[in-house]
Amino acid sequence: MTPILEAHDVKKHFRTGGGLFQKKGLIKAVDGVSLSITPGETFAIVGESGCGKSTLARILMRLLDPTSGEVVFDGKQVTKATGTALSDLRCDMQFIFQDPFSSLNPRMTVGKLVGEPLEVHAPNLSKAQRQAKVADLLSQVGLRPEHAGRYAHEFSGGQRQRIGIARALASGPRLIIGDEPVSALDVSVQAQVVNLLGDLGRDLGLTLVLIAHDLAVIRHMSDRVAVMYLGKIVEQGTTDELFENPRHPYTRALLDAIPDLDDKDGASRARIEGEMPSPLAPPPGCAFHTRCPHATDLCRTKVPPPVTTSDGHMTACHHWQDIPIIPRKTTPRNQSSATQARLEIYRKATEGAQIIPVASKTTDREETK
Ligand SMILES: Nc1ncnc2c1ncn2[C@@H]1O[C@H](COP(=O)(O)OP(=O)(O)OP(=O)(O)O)[C@@H](O)[C@H]1O
Ligand code: SF4
Ligand SMILES: [Mg+2]
Repeated sequence: MTPILEAHDVKKHFRTGGGLFQKKGLIKAVDGVSLSITPGETFAIVGESGCGKSTLARILMRLLDPTSGEVVFDGKQVTKATGTALSDLRCDMQFIFQDPFSSLNPRMTVGKLVGEPLEVHAPNLSKAQRQAKVADLLSQVGLRPEHAGRYAHEFSGGQRQRIGIARALASGPRLIIGDEPVSALDVSVQAQVVNLLGDLGRDLGLTLVLIAHDLAVIRHMSDRVAVMYLGKIVEQGTTDELFENPRHPYTRALLDAIPDLDDKDGASRARIEGEMPSPLAPPPGCAFHTRCPHATDLCRTKVPPPVTTSDGHMTACHHWQDIPIIPRKTTPRNQSSATQARLEIYRKATEGAQIIPVASKTTDREETK
């Protein structure tokens, strides 16, 4: 199938200025990423904090220019688009932010927030048509048409994210990139928003690029997964293959990190032995060698080339074939009770079962009303 979005050897290097608290140098936030996303799929990007996920997402959306490399959307150059071509891309690709509140203007009503993109992308609509379209968009995301007259601060976190999604849908996009769209929400509310995104993806034939720390979200939603480490994709494959037969030691370590169901402060984010090296001074050879139990002299000197097998599973590790694969279906390592419990919440939400909020904040109870 012809890809809808491609990245070819994309790099983004930030020069840091030095000063009292910051070392002078070059941060290779994204360092040679190539990927190809097919229409209608949900493609997840996972990796520890600082590995370059948001930078990559912003480059894919042309919110940031790469240092080198190119991005192609539906056969058109994203990296060089200007004028009408760029505004067409802005219709076709939309972004959902982690914190919907900071991306929603507090002085605008929900109707105005959701209707604003229509003024740009469908300028010929009459006022009545625009209001009808806003009501329709609000219904699509599980809000009521009368919510159009209220302000963002009057809504719960999950509802605000729904407003953000309605706003993103207003331009009739073909692809949506969500940068941790649910990680700021309570687990029970996450399930509802995750399922909403999945349903919209299916119903509207959208392609979703999902950045997430929560492996349960990725397992539940995505078709394929790319694992990033210090600016590079180290493994990529179908979700089933990657979760059941992870080849790269970093992916295995990520899957072994147990998320905490009641996490409130980000503790459920993947924890791996040792610190991630400074991006200002990444280790030579394989950047993961300082934390890898299988590292050899070769790993310490030579960057492992990506190797893709006939099933499309890509791994960038010198020794992936030598490290015994333990099929995860038969091991309990990926079946932590917390992951299972979270997956169960998502499944129940899919079936429309009543969700009991983990943390019963008044605002979040509104979600189920
Ligand atoms: N504008 C910038 N100037 C300098 N360095 C930057 C800039 N933006 C990002 N970085 C650095 O690039 C690296 C990747 O950052 P990025 O925000 O893409 O990571 P991330 O994977 O999204 O992390 P998180 O999971 O915490 O959101 C980090 O080391 C970050 O400090
Ligand atoms: S290349 Fe070497 S250090 Fe890097 S992940 Fe593979 S075995 Fe570990
Ligand atoms: Mg980020």
